[in-house]
Amino acid sequence: MPEKSIPPSAADALVLEGISKRYGSARILNEVHLRVAAGDVHALIGPNGAGKSTLFNVVSGLAAPSSGTVRLHGRDVTGLPAHRVARLGLSRSFQVANVFPRLSVFDNLRCAAMRSCGLGYAWWRGLGRAGPLAERAGEVMARVGLAQRAGAAAGELSYAEQRALELGMVLAADARVLLLDEPTAGMNRGESARMAELIRATCRDRTVLIVEHDMQVVFGLSDRISVMVRGELIATGEPSGIRDDEAVRRAYLGRFPGGRS
Ligand SMILES: Nc1ncnc2c1ncn2[C@@H]1O[C@H](COP(=O)(O)OP(=O)(O)OP(=O)(O)O)[C@@H](O)[C@H]1O
Ligand SMILES: [Mg+2]
Repeated sequence: MPEKSIPPSAADALVLEGISKRYGSARILNEVHLRVAAGDVHALIGPNGAGKSTLFNVVSGLAAPSSGTVRLHGRDVTGLPAHRVARLGLSRSFQVANVFPRLSVFDNLRCAAMRSCGLGYAWWRGLGRAGPLAERAGEVMARVGLAQRAGAAAGELSYAEQRALELGMVLAADARVLLLDEPTAGMNRGESARMAELIRATCRDRTVLIVEHDMQVVFGLSDRISVMVRGELIATGEPSGIRDDEAVRRAYLGRFPGGRS
């Protein structure tokens, strides 16, 4: 089932061709071919250390691949720095909550909105509390359920609220392609379910590539799933096909909801 040498299509938001990444002599990613269709929620799953976050780093411009090509809406963005990839419409969240703890919820969102406009953080104090950036921040704040917490310092939010704020920051950047790295990490079952619902509701008109260990979330949310093991994609397909794939089941025995493990 692994995808190889796929012809590009206008329907693809993101196309990865032969992505490999080495750190010294360690081969972390090996010839990863992946395409993410526009409008899909596409999950990337795999055991710890498989290379999922490394792939996100390569796609978002935090690390250059050793070889291979990254295309965003048909455009070759391989090796571009992260801020340029962000301006071309890709936004990501990190595995560890990544908000500015001393800034208010509102200002965190304004900063995120500003980044997508190409303005650096140093500018934010000079800007008024009205205008398009503030408007977008206010809109996103409502969408992620934090309107009542506008003035609270991000560091004072509960953990689940911080992750919601992080999702808001990705949305505020107004990107068409979102990479979410373990948005429910550290959450209890109820919080994870609420976050999955939030992702479903807020990302409807965007393309999402999501790394997630919670299989309830993965199978509840995804149009397609790719499975990475030791730096290689061993399968890509619809949730039902992935659930029944033998190689995948060996890597994930007993962890799929509703499966026949
Ligand atoms: N900058 C780096 N230099 C050297 N090795 C690295 C670097 N970044 C990641 N690695 C190694 O690459 C491998 C894959 O790491 P990565 O964080 O991508 O895994 P992951 O699939 O995201 O795992 P998890 O599910 O635990 O988050 C690991 O063995 C890690 O130690
Ligand atoms: Mg990771």
